[in-house]
Amino acid sequence: MRKPVIAGNWKMYKLLSDAVETSLELKRLVANANHCEVVIAPVFTALKTIADRVEGSNIKVAAQDCSIQNDFGAHTGEVAPVMIKDVGCSHVIVGHSERRQFYGETDESVNWKTMAGLAAGLTPIVCVGEKLEEREAGNAESVVKTQLEGGLKGLTVSDLERIIIAYEPVWAIGTGKTATPEQAQEMHGFIRGVVAETHGAEAAEGLRILYGGSVKPDNIVELMAQEDVDGALVGGASLDAASFAKIVNYKQ
Ligand code: 13P
Repeated sequence: MRKPVIAGNWKMYKLLSDAVETSLELKRLVANANHCEVVIAPVFTALKTIADRVEGSNIKVAAQDCSIQNDFGAHTGEVAPVMIKDVGCSHVIVGHSERRQFYGETDESVNWKTMAGLAAGLTPIVCVGEKLEEREAGNAESVVKTQLEGGLKGLTVSDLERIIIAYEPVWAIGTGKTATPEQAQEMHGFIRGVVAETHGAEAAEGLRILYGGSVKPDNIVELMAQEDVDGALVGGASLDAASFAKIVNYKQ
């Protein structure tokens, strides 16, 4: 059985005081959620504080990006996965579409970051997803396949057991336009099929695939009802503890 993961990507929101307040409120509101793993991804400057505040609870902490390598050196502005692990994080988001679109992330750098994250003992949440024009041109599947093959290149079957995929159609991010549950299921099934080809059926069966893009308390239930949707990567609706807790507690 694949244990669902509900992850909140706080993007570049919240000063430290607000991040602490939200995480403490969330800790209370999701204290009984055993049906899924709960992850929050604050900005780098809040990671250690938040990780300390939620330690011992069922909330795990992710960074939103990482360096391509763990070797210390002259890499101004970079943060190595080992440093993220060192401050109490367990996950790292890699290849988010905002980084691909605006910060030069490529399938190759996603691949390096994924490997570096794994080497540091983090769980990479590897994001893939097509743009609107790619979907409209009928290329959604080929785009996602290329991102998967590039991003997961060289990973072993046991590496694959330690990663999570997030399918986030770019046209659904922050737009209020969610993929329909059928569209999500179709792509999630496709992703599992691609991984079955590259890493075998067993690895594909165990892989958790999250959906991201305008996930809200009122659409989480129908998304989670889909066979191949194993959780959600939530942006806007994760910034408010009560709203994110409703998504986490979709089962109760
Ligand atoms: P929204 O939930 O705001 O659409 O953002 C999704 C996202 O990008 C999560 O990583």
